[in-house]
Amino acid sequence: MNILITGGAGFIGSHLVRRLVHRYPEYHIHNLDALTYAGNLENLKDVENAPNYSFIKGDITQAAFLEKLFGQTNFDGVIHLAAESHVDRSIADPMAFVRTNVIGTVNLLNAAKTFWRKHGEHRRFYHISTDEVYGSLGETGLFSETTAYDPNSPYSASKASSDHFVRAYGETYGLPYVISNCSNNYGPNQFPEKLIPLFIRNILENRELPVYGDGNYTRDWLYVKDHAAAIDLVFHQGANQKTYAIGGFNEWKNLALVHLLCDIMDSKLGRATGSSKELIAHIKDRPGHDFRYAMDASRINRELGWEPSVTFEEGLEKTVDWYLKNTAWLQNVINGNYQRYYKEQYGG
Ligand code: NAD
Ligand code: TYD
Repeated sequence: MNILITGGAGFIGSHLVRRLVHRYPEYHIHNLDALTYAGNLENLKDVENAPNYSFIKGDITQAAFLEKLFGQTNFDGVIHLAAESHVDRSIADPMAFVRTNVIGTVNLLNAAKTFWRKHGEHRRFYHISTDEVYGSLGETGLFSETTAYDPNSPYSASKASSDHFVRAYGETYGLPYVISNCSNNYGPNQFPEKLIPLFIRNILENRELPVYGDGNYTRDWLYVKDHAAAIDLVFHQGANQKTYAIGGFNEWKNLALVHLLCDIMDSKLGRATGSSKELIAHIKDRPGHDFRYAMDASRINRELGWEPSVTFEEGLEKTVDWYLKNTAWLQNVINGNYQRYYKEQYGG
C-alpha cells in the first residue's frame, strides 16, 4: 500500500508517520508537507532513512502539483492532517486558514476523485478534524458524532467547512471517506504556541504564563500517541462514510491544568513548590473564546475497542520530561533553525 500522509512534519502527523513506518514495513509512507512554521523534519529524524518512508515537500493549496503527484504515485489511501491549526493565528489571519484548510482540502479531494475513479475503488480518504467544529458546550453535556456543527473561530469554521466538503465528495462522487474529530492533543513535538508547550517554555525561562480571562475554560485533553493509535485503527477498521469522535475522557479547566503543570515543573526543576505558579498572569481574553469542549468517544471505544492508554498526570509528566530533554529542539523551533536543517538534509 502507498499511503499519503499530509502534514506529517507537524505535531500529530509526525507521531502518526513514525507509528505507521514502524508498524507497517510492507507499506510505503509518503509524507507531504509544506514545512510551514509548524512543520519540522527534526521531528522525524529517526525514521528519515527508513526504506518505507519518503518526504515530499509540497503545498496542498497548489492543485496542479497535487494532480501531478497523484498521477505519479498510485496512492491507496490518504490521511489528511495538513492544516493551519492555531486558533489565535486564525483570529489574526483567517484567509491563511481558508487557503490551506478549505481550498487545500478540496484540492486533495479533487486529486483523489480524479485518479481513484480511473484506477479502482478500494481506497480511503481519511480526514483528520477537531471537536472545535461543534462550537462550545456549557457546564454539562458532551459532543458526539451527531452533534450539529456550530463553529465559532475562523479556525473551527475552516475545519467545519473542510469536513463538509469531504462528506459532500462522499455523497456526490462516491469517494470512500472517513472523518474523525478529536479533542485537544498534547505531548512531545507540539509547537510552543499551544497552551501546554508554551507554558513549559515560559516556566523554563521564568516568563509570565499568560492565562486568557479567568482561566475557567475547559478542554478535553488526549495524549498525542493515543490519537495516533486511534487514527491507525480508524484508517484500518473504521467504516466508510462514517465519523468517529475521539477524546481523552479527560476534562480540565485551564487554570487547574496550569497548576498541575507548574507543580510538575517545580518538582522536575528542583524549584520551590509554588514558584512557577507565581508566573501566572491573567490577560485579556481571546475573542470568541469557546467555554468548554468535551467529547463522547464511546462509539470508537465500543466499535473499535480504542481507549486512551495513559492518564493525564502520566502523559503530562512524559511531555514535560521530553521538553526538558529536548531543549535544543525547542530552541531550533523558536529560532527557525529547522529550515537550515531541511536545506542541509535535502538541499534547496
Ligand atoms: P501542526 O500545526 O502541528 O502541523 C500542521 C502541519 O501541516 C505542519 O507540518 C505544516 O507544515 C503542514 N502544513 C500546513 N499548511 C500546509 C500546506 N498548505 N500544504 C502542506 N502542508 C501544510 O498541527 P497538528 O496539531 O499536528 O494538527 C494536525 C491536524 O489535526 C490538523 O488538521 C488539526 O486541525 C487536527 N487536530 C489537531 C488537534 C490538536 O490538538 N493539535 C486536535 C484535533 C485535530
Ligand atoms: P490552545 O492550546 O490554543 O488550544 P485550543 O484553543 O485549540 O483549545 O488553548 C487551550 C486553552 O488554553 C484555550 O482555552 C485557550 C487557553 N490559552 C491561554 O489561556 N493562554 C494561552 O497563551 C494559550 C495559547 C491558550
